[in-house]
Order: sequence, then C-alpha cells, then structure tokens
Amino acid sequence: MRIFLTGPTGYIGGAVLDALMRAGHSVTGLVRDQPRARRLKKRGVEAVVGNLADSGWRDAAVGFDALIHTALDSQRGAQADAKALETLFSAAQSTGGHPRLVYTSFVWVLGATSAPADERTTLSPAAHSAWRPAHEQLVLRATGLTPVVVRPGIVYGGTRGIVGDLLRDAVNGLIRVIGDGRNRWATIYDRDLADLYVRLVTAPDVSGTYHATDEADESVLDIVEALSRNTTHKPDVRLMPIDEARAKLGTFADALAMDQVVRSPRARALGWMPSLRSIGGNMPRLLEEWRNGQKD
Ligand SMILES: NC(=O)c1ccc[n+]([C@@H]2O[C@H](COP(=O)([O-])OP(=O)(O)OC[C@H]3O[C@@H](n4cnc5c(N)ncnc54)[C@H](OP(=O)(O)O)[C@@H]3O)[C@@H](O)[C@H]2O)c1
Repeated sequence: MRIFLTGPTGYIGGAVLDALMRAGHSVTGLVRDQPRARRLKKRGVEAVVGNLADSGWRDAAVGFDALIHTALDSQRGAQADAKALETLFSAAQSTGGHPRLVYTSFVWVLGATSAPADERTTLSPAAHSAWRPAHEQLVLRATGLTPVVVRPGIVYGGTRGIVGDLLRDAVNGLIRVIGDGRNRWATIYDRDLADLYVRLVTAPDVSGTYHATDEADESVLDIVEALSRNTTHKPDVRLMPIDEARAKLGTFADALAMDQVVRSPRARALGWMPSLRSIGGNMPRLLEEWRNGQKD
C-alpha cells in the first residue's frame, strides 16, 4: 500500500514507519526540514517538507491508500493539530475512494477510570488532553474518508518518552514519582503499537476508535521497584507531592498521577496481541534497549 505518514521522525511515528517498511509498504513522510528529508530518503522513504501549522503540503498528501497522523507540535498543540486535520481531510477527500485516516489520540482522554475502560466508556479527559475529544470527533465525523482513532497508552521501549525518561533517571540514581505512585498507568510497547497501526491500515472493516494498551495495570511503584531490582546501583526514589509537581509541570503532572485501567477489546478483535505484557516483567530487556539507544 502507499501510505502518507506525519511525524515519521517522532517516537510513535518512527516505530510506525519501521513497522510499515518491514511489512513492505511504500511510505511518504511529512518532515519539517531538508536535513530530516535527506535522512528519510537515505532509508528509502519519500519525504515531503512541510509544517502541520499550514496547508502547504496538502497536494503532496493526495492519492494515498491511507494517511496516518502521528505528529504533534509541542508548542502549537491543538491549533496546529486542527490545521493538520483540515489539510489531511482535504487531501483524503481529493483522493476519492474513502482512504483510511488514522488519527493518534491518547488514553488520557478517558481521564481517571473508576472501572476498566474500553472504547465505549464516556470520556472525562485529563486537563492536559482537554482539547483532544473534539479532534477525535472531527475525525470520526469527517466525510470522504474512513476514520480511525487510536488511543495509545503511555508508550515504552527504546530511549524516548515518559518511560525512557524514567529509565534515564533510574540510571542516573534519582527517580521522582508524582503523588504516592500507587496510581496505575495504561501502557504499550512501541513495536506492538506500531504493529497495530499496520493492522489498522491493512485489515478489512476497520473504522472508529481503538485502544492500544498491554492491559498490565501496573502501578508507577511496580515499575519503579522493577527498576530498582534491575539497576546496578539502586536509585533513590523521591515521592513528589502533586502541588509541587503541578508547579513544575502544569497539567502534565496531573496526567502522570492519574489512575487508569484501560482495555483494548476492539484491537484484540483484529487479532492484535501485544508481545510485551508489562514494563516491570521486561525490565532487563527494556534497560538493554535503552542502553543500546544511548550508543546510537
Ligand atoms: N509518547 C507517548 O507515550 C504517547 C502516548 C499516547 C499518545 N501519544 C500521542 O502520540 C502523538 C505522537 O507522540 P510522540 O511521543 O511520538 O511525539 P514526538 O516523539 O514528540 O514526535 C512528534 C513528531 O511530530 C513532528 N512535528 C512536531 N511539530 C511539527 C510541525 N509543526 N510540523 C510537522 N511535524 C511536526 C516531530 O518532528 P521533528 O522531528 O521535526 O520534531 C515528530 O516527528 C502525540 O499526539 C502524542 O500526544 C503519545
């Protein structure tokens, strides 16, 4: 298949790019500048230079079998995302044939869960993700395309992201935990998430919302304890009161302190089964991946 991908240099987008290429698909990636475009081209990936915040790349996104949106501008968040969606909708509509548009959301739109949440659970978004449900709805209601919304858990694997930062802190000897650490994170291994994206563009009868979680229901302290058992020098652990964390990190702190139990029945129904089923149970492997990534 011919697939247009935003964010191919990102944490999730990079994993999705690798998985699409392993599966033999032809990928065109949207990147911000020429050096990034050259790096992609060296890997046999077509690159289009453009910015989420304007529609200059719209024509280059016409004519694909599927469009996957993983990019997010950390500075211009919701505003740039709305513009990117407008551009992707226009490109998909000009393509004809209702190509799939896969939008990357976040399990944080569910908010803290009082019972295990699935794709039908009413949303109560964390403040950090307050703008997201409206963007999910824009996608789900768009015409001329087949809408797919993915809500990944917190991603782990390699060196990047929230869990990558935790591994770095552990190796450096000090882990800060927001709140009491008994809250559970909904999580997913980067390669398993990427495999789900491949299914979402290739499997028949895919549309609507899909959660992507390993269903491990691990607490932050479970993860921290696994880190302590697997690092040569046991790191210090400091519990940081939520007010102090909020002063430093804003609404991101509340999202990290949230208790979530999230199930992924719709993805499982596609035959998708995560290969890693927890962070703590795979800590030696994840630390090795993290250390190897430092050498690159
Ligand atoms: N990481 C997680 O644990 C996680 C979990 C669930 C959901 N999500 C969601 O998944 C999405 C991707 O997250 P991520 O962790 O992969 O983020 P990331 O590593 O920061 O990647 C963001 C990507 O977007 C690109 N980008 C940023 N601003 C751009 C712009 N103005 N124009 C064009 N491209 C731009 C970046 O390109 P450059 O290389 O140029 O910076 C990069 O490729 C986000 O919506 C995030 O909220 C993430």
